Amino acid sequence: MKKFTFALVATLLVVACNAGETIKTLPTPNKERAGELMQALSDRQSIREYAETPVSLQDLSDLLWAANGVNRPDGKRTAPSAVNRQDIKVYVIDSEGTWLYEHTGHELLKVSDGDFRQPIRENMPPINLVLVADNEWQWSGVDAGYVSQNIYLFCAANNMATVAMGMFDKEVVTSALKLTPEQQIVLVHPVGYQK
Ligand SMILES: Cc1cc2nc3c(=O)[nH]c(=O)nc-3n(C[C@H](O)[C@H](O)[C@H](O)COP(=O)(O)O)c2cc1C
Repeated sequence: MKKFTFALVATLLVVACNAGETIKTLPTPNKERAGELMQALSDRQSIREYAETPVSLQDLSDLLWAANGVNRPDGKRTAPSAVNRQDIKVYVIDSEGTWLYEHTGHELLKVSDGDFRQPIRENMPPINLVLVADNEWQWSGVDAGYVSQNIYLFCAANNMATVAMGMFDKEVVTSALKLTPEQQIVLVHPVGYQK
């Protein structure tokens, strides 16, 4: 009985410690930040070179909320979704590891350790956002496209740089994000500040 109790306490401690390590708390998204839609549309473009400056936690928080955060009390999101299937997940890859954006709590859940960032034309961004569909179906590309445009417009409005990238090391990213065989990576978005 003593052995069983010890094993149970040890297991609970390990679970508690892991859970403590797995969350990166994001600051509350700043929905008041400046930015004009028409100006952002004028400035939107694919940019493939990035300053080395790390993306601040506030900018990452605001970017993730803009990409596909909850914007209404009924839980719906900044990006529309065919039949409200909400099938697109956003992952973050930074130099420390990979993270799943959990939109309900507006937080990042750690998925894996290591640097799995994907460069574009040999330019390494501070982060990649990865748009993953739960299943490949008729509308997954369309749903991911809205999230992608939200990322483009946020970056254009905030002197940040991004590009939608369909060519990347699929094997590395799939394994780093621990995706199931049903999940499909639609796009990778390198993101950083403009040089
Ligand atoms: C679905 C999709 C996939 C793309 N994949 C890549 C890519 O793998 N590499 C790249 O350099 N640009 C990629 N792009 C960016 C396009 O080349 C870019 O949008 C196009 O040249 C128009 O330039 P603009 O975005 O500055 O208007 C992709 C864009 C889309 C929409």
